[in-house]
Amino acid sequence: MAAPARKVALVTAGSAGLGAAIARVLALELGMSVTINYHSNANRAAALVKELQDTWAARHATDAGAQVAPPVFHAIRADICKRSEIIRLVEETTAASGGRLDTVISNVGWTKMRNFSDLDDGVDEDDWDRCFDSNVKAHLWLFHASKKWLEESNAGEEGSAVFVSTASIAGCKPSGSSLPYAVTKAAQIHLIKSLAVISAPSIRVNCVSPGILLTDWGLSFPAARLEAAKEANKLKRFATVEDVAQQVRTFVVSKTITGQNAIIDAGFSL
Ligand SMILES: NC(=O)c1ccc[n+]([C@@H]2O[C@H](COP(=O)([O-])OP(=O)(O)OC[C@H]3O[C@@H](n4cnc5c(N)ncnc54)[C@H](OP(=O)(O)O)[C@@H]3O)[C@@H](O)[C@H]2O)c1
Ligand SMILES: *[C@@H]1O[C@H](CO)[C@@H](O)[C@H](O)[C@H]1NC(C)=O
Repeated sequence: MAAPARKVALVTAGSAGLGAAIARVLALELGMSVTINYHSNANRAAALVKELQDTWAARHATDAGAQVAPPVFHAIRADICKRSEIIRLVEETTAASGGRLDTVISNVGWTKMRNFSDLDDGVDEDDWDRCFDSNVKAHLWLFHASKKWLEESNAGEEGSAVFVSTASIAGCKPSGSSLPYAVTKAAQIHLIKSLAVISAPSIRVNCVSPGILLTDWGLSFPAARLEAAKEANKLKRFATVEDVAQQVRTFVVSKTITGQNAIIDAGFSL
């Protein structure tokens, strides 16, 4: 009897911060094979791959003779702001998995810290172009490149194919690191809902909108701004990458949630 193959996930911008937290949940809680995409720091990506391999091995030391082979974890470098790189990433991911892709986490984002309240600080054309490339177009290109693989996944198990994107609370409530960031994150949420309409009934498409997370990215806000943001959160604390990753897990294991944007912001937008 052929052993059932494991599900395969791709996580973009997956070697640190929120992407790494999501990769841990997909790998260690759901037992998926995971491809981790990164851009510049190969050592950090390799360290995460090793962490997943070691943690899996330690937790499954007594699985000898199991029917299902252990999940495969590996890292692929690609600049997700370039369409050709996105296409190559999907090709390499599916080549390595024997032509299987069930879950795509489209997590890349870009901003430049500006003063949101200062209009003169919100009209840099290069900021607008890079925000549109990273926060809107990159997610569309990744969805387009993944579509046929996700459709095949759904053909094997109805409802299993899912695309989850990381937006931001800045896309729901005008706020955040810059005007172009907020506007393009809002566009990203609308893109996700549009893709959910276009790709039904075969692929489910959802997004998460976190408030400030204390990743490398979040910690690049000035300390005084972080303190003020924490005070503004109704829960007087920050959302965590682990919380957001659990919301992503819910979207992944669901068979019927589509077109939804989940806000995880410790009450900031309430
Ligand atoms: N942190 C927050 O406060 C916050 C709040 C709301 C939403 N978000 C959103 O959450 C997502 C992840 O943010 P984060 O805070 O987890 O970021 P982070 O901790 O700074 O992690 C960045 C990750 O992205 C990778 N990366 C950067 N540029 C890339 C590119 N062009 N192509 C491929 N990979 C790239 C990095 O890999 P290398 O190091 O190898 O380059 C690293 O794995 C973004 O979409 C962001 O907009 C963040
Ligand atoms: C941001 O810009 C607003 C409007 O110009 C100004 O009132 C505020 O002091 C600025 N904030 C910082 C931190 O510079």
